[in-house]
Amino acid sequence: MTTTLDGASPGDLAIVTRGLRKTYRSVTGRRSVAVQGLDLDVPLGGVHGFLGPNGSGKTTSIRMLLGLIHADAGTMNVLGHEIPRQLPAVIKRVGAIVEQPKFFPTISARRNLEILAKGIGAPERAVAQVLEDVGLTDRGKDLFKTYSLGMKQRLAIAATLLKDPDLLIFDEPTNGLDPAGIHEIRETMRSLGASGKTVLVSSHILSEVEHVADTVTIIGRGRTLAQGRVKDLLDAQATTTVRVGVADPDGAERVLREGGMTVVRDGALLNVTGVDDPAEITRRLAHHEHYVSELVAQRAGLEAFFLELTAGEGPGTAAGVPLPSHAAGHHAASPTDGAPQPPQGPPANPYGRPTSTEGGEA
Ligand SMILES: Nc1ncnc2c1ncn2[C@@H]1O[C@H](COP(=O)(O)OP(=O)(O)O)[C@@H](O)[C@H]1O
Ligand SMILES: [Mg+2]
Repeated sequence: MTTTLDGASPGDLAIVTRGLRKTYRSVTGRRSVAVQGLDLDVPLGGVHGFLGPNGSGKTTSIRMLLGLIHADAGTMNVLGHEIPRQLPAVIKRVGAIVEQPKFFPTISARRNLEILAKGIGAPERAVAQVLEDVGLTDRGKDLFKTYSLGMKQRLAIAATLLKDPDLLIFDEPTNGLDPAGIHEIRETMRSLGASGKTVLVSSHILSEVEHVADTVTIIGRGRTLAQGRVKDLLDAQATTTVRVGVADPDGAERVLREGGMTVVRDGALLNVTGVDDPAEITRRLAHHEHYVSELVAQRAGLEAFFLELTAGEGPGTAAGVPLPSHAAGHHAASPTDGAPQPPQGPPANPYGRPTSTEGGEA
């Protein structure tokens, strides 16, 4: 792993990591590889989703980026500064929630922020501004202990905004929130991203970032599986499943299979993949005198793509299991299971820029 961005500006990227690795060692000497060669590109401005199942290395990666733990290998660059060497020069511009921040329960939200602002030398007027930013202006006078979980989390975000950072890093900010709270946090992240800040938000639940993030990195077992604009990832996996209803599903299934299509039975219906144009299905069936009563093309959602990419990447599978380079993405889908196929090969060039990490292991 020789790529370094030392000194050089990473251009329009807020965060760049190359070949980032971290192995935890327990007191008994057991090794657990938490992050194994992570390549992360977070564009400047907007919301970037950092997605992966539990135990895939999100928190570990974030802690390395914030200089809270040391990386074993690889390079990190945050806002043009090499981490950890230049961390002191850049940390003022970064706000983060990695653990639940502590607020005093029996004083008001506003007072809590005033105390924090004083502690970090932020101007007092920043308090009103950040309450406004997270939509808590009207509730600033209320005691912290009367806040809902969503409001508490918004207050935590407000606290990170006191020093007016350019980059915000939120590790699973919607964990434990009810749907209303999740909605509040989403709206807050969206408006922060729209205001020109860069927001990196991790989650193990795709739907929590899918509609907020402009770009996304999907990781599994501590390595990058896919990265890019949410829209491009959706387009790239435009594996269409077509639901087909016919009077004779057995006969129709045979005909379609003979035509090289993949068919999964769902009762009397056929779920067909492996066709560029649904009209091919109609044409082929009609040619063999099967007439279609129902035909619905369904594009696989990013959710299906995410589940497919991260299949078998769950907790308990990460520790000490050596994966062959670029193994992820090749293992899960069988040709007949009707699941969307993930893109093959390494996730290079997420935003059209060259990366120099192909070939893998550091
Ligand atoms: N302090 C630690 N000591 C040992 N192993 C750890 C420690 N923190 C995390 N791990 C392990 O590292 C892997 C990645 O964990 P983590 O970064 O917390 O993942 P995520 O945030 O994606 O859920 C997991 O296998 C986890 O058990
Ligand atoms: Mg975590």
